[in-house]
Parts: sequence; C-alpha cells; structure tokens
Amino acid sequence: MNADISNVLDELENQSRLEKARKVDVAPQDRMLAITKETGEFLNMILRLKNAKNVLEVGMSVGYSTIWIAEAIIEKSGKIFTIEKNPDKIKRAMDNFAKAKIEKVIEIKEGIAMTILKELSAQEKNQNFFDMVLIDADKENIIEYFDLILPMVMPGGVIITDNMLHPEKYRQDMKKFSDYLKSNPDLRTTTSNIGNGEEITIKIK
Ligand SMILES: C[S@@+](CC[C@H](N)C(=O)[O-])C[C@H]1O[C@@H](n2cnc3c(N)ncnc32)[C@H](O)[C@@H]1O
Repeated sequence: MNADISNVLDELENQSRLEKARKVDVAPQDRMLAITKETGEFLNMILRLKNAKNVLEVGMSVGYSTIWIAEAIIEKSGKIFTIEKNPDKIKRAMDNFAKAKIEKVIEIKEGIAMTILKELSAQEKNQNFFDMVLIDADKENIIEYFDLILPMVMPGGVIITDNMLHPEKYRQDMKKFSDYLKSNPDLRTTTSNIGNGEEITIKIK
C-alpha cells in the first residue's frame, strides 16, 4: 500500500481509538463511527478477489471505509459512489481523500440516503451495475435500503452490512434484517464475526 494512503488510514485509526476510549471529547454527530481495521482489510480483499470496479457506499462519515475501498479499485479505474448527510463530515472526508490522493475515484452524494438511493435506483444505467455495496448508515431503514440497492447489484455482486453484532442495541433489528435476507432464494448470506459483525451477502441472480 502506498504511504499517502497508509498514513491517512493510520491517522484515522488513531482518532477512532481515542473516540472509542472516550479520550477525546467529540459531539455524537461528529464521531467517526468507523468500521474496524479488520473490516477494512476484509473489504479490500473481497474487492481485489472480485476484480471489482464499481462500488456504492451508504454512510461515508469521514471516509475511513471509503479509503480502504478506494485502495483496492484505484488501479482499475474504478469508482465509488458514497452517501453522507453530514456536511462537516463531508469536509473532513474530502481533506482525507486529498491527503491520500484518491479523490479521482470518489463521487460523494450529499444528502439523505433514502432520497439518494431512490434517485440512483431509478436510473437505468445503475441496474446490475455495482460489484460491491457497503451498507453502514442508520439501521431503521435498512430493509428499505437493501430493497433499493439489490437491483443495482450485478449478479455475483456482494453486499456487506456493518454492525450485525455490535453495538448490542442494533442486534434485534439486524437479526430481522439477516432473516429477511435468508428468506430470499436469490441470495446467499452469512453473518460473520469480523469487526462489528459483517453480513456478507451474494446476489446469485
Ligand atoms: C457508521 S457511520 C459510517 C462510517 C464509515 N462507513 C466508516 O467506516 O468510516 C454512519 C454515517 O452515516 C451517516 N448517516 C446516517 N444516517 C444517514 C442517512 N439517513 N442518510 C445519509 N447519511 C446518513 C452518518 O452521518 C454517519 O456519518
């Protein structure tokens, strides 16, 4: 991995550690709430194994997960569409992307996930388009997000959902989500204990 990217990842991991240990005073809406490093490595490996180019991310925050994704697709002229509603986090993410020199592969969609997903899914060119999707925003609407996302994933594409097991407060909703996925015969899905618990879902057809 090149030094520009690994330096920014190191900085963000350090910040995330301090936030989780409550060693810095950060307002709830400004917290990174990032995936773990282990999950970042896992996403990066899946993207490389799939030779992936086009990725959709729901919930960018300050861009930690986006950087792990970008690192895997940048040499393939890939593209990440990433959704975030918080303008301050978007500014911080843009600084991080500039420092990591990966801006050219990232298109930030500022706004509410449901609205943006409806817009994206209404466009013909996005049907069966994405190799991978990361779902990591609010959990209340997760089934609706998934239903909008699924037609945009190419057959054989992967959908990763964070926070299946941690924090505990989401566990019941996430179990319902996982059961919903399991009821669809066109999907294969499993809940792994990587990071905060990652649901790994493959669209078979
Ligand atoms: C868990 S964090 C994402 C962390 C990021 N994926 C990472 O690992 O670095 C969730 C983000 O989703 C954003 N978010 C939550 N609900 C949203 C919504 N309805 N529309 C758009 N963004 C939303 C929050 O502002 C927050 O930054």
